[in-house]
Amino acid sequence: MNDLPKELIEALRKAKKVAVLTGAGISAESKIPTFRDAMTGLWASFSPEELATPEAFARNPKMVWDWYAFRREMCAKALPNPGHLALAEMEKHFEQFTLTTQNVDGLHQRAGSRRVFELHGSIARVKCADTGRLLGGEIPECDEPPPLHPETGGMLRPDVVWFGEALPEQALLESAQAAIEADVYFTIGTSALVYPAAGLPIEAGRAGAVVVEINPIETPFTQLATFSLRGKSGEVLPAIVEALR
Ligand code: OAD
Repeated sequence: MNDLPKELIEALRKAKKVAVLTGAGISAESKIPTFRDAMTGLWASFSPEELATPEAFARNPKMVWDWYAFRREMCAKALPNPGHLALAEMEKHFEQFTLTTQNVDGLHQRAGSRRVFELHGSIARVKCADTGRLLGGEIPECDEPPPLHPETGGMLRPDVVWFGEALPEQALLESAQAAIEADVYFTIGTSALVYPAAGLPIEAGRAGAVVVEINPIETPFTQLATFSLRGKSGEVLPAIVEALR
């Protein structure tokens, strides 16, 4: 990618505090389907809202468990792509670098990013649906999923944030603080539709940050961005890291 705006690279050279919001698009090149195109094959007849709610789990815990088990396996097999790796590299360039992700796949951490706030939880963790107590060890085998928490006896569910549930408070607070302090704020691979995550780049812009969107297509946020870079994060981000060298 040769056509990065010069003003953006200059802003990044001067920046001390950089913050980033990522969505499913950053993991698309790791072959994890994005949320809003994910309903293919086996799951073609469901919408995310039908599977990712406490009500859906109460109605049909086996179906919801199986859907997450399928995605858990997909995430475990996936590898970080050049976009994740470039963000891990960028973390070393700035005095403060805060990465907030809506993804539950753990690929930022596996790429080497250290300061990561997972706003929507992690698919690798499971917890008791009644008490919220996390499961320490391996997920127990069982004939009729979902398995039960060995200590509480409650049904296990993924430790992800479902529609209608509260976001992890500390992760949201730190992310909001990083947004208002940022000199440059990136919003990468997200359709910018799900709040409060989608509000973070808006807050950053209001507080004076240079706001950069990276997405192959326009989003509701495009009009508000200082720079909107049309491309895949796995290509644009390595080009930014290269330009900063
Ligand atoms: P979406 O599936 O809504 O959006 C993915 C975005 O990534 C789209 O705008 C794509 O154009 C873009 N995209 C696709 N390929 C890309 C690439 N190679 N590089 C950069 N961008 C690319 O996913 P999210 O915005 O993450 O919430 O969805 C937000 C939340 O809605 C999810 O965390 C989930 C979902 O419902 C909960 O489960 C609470």
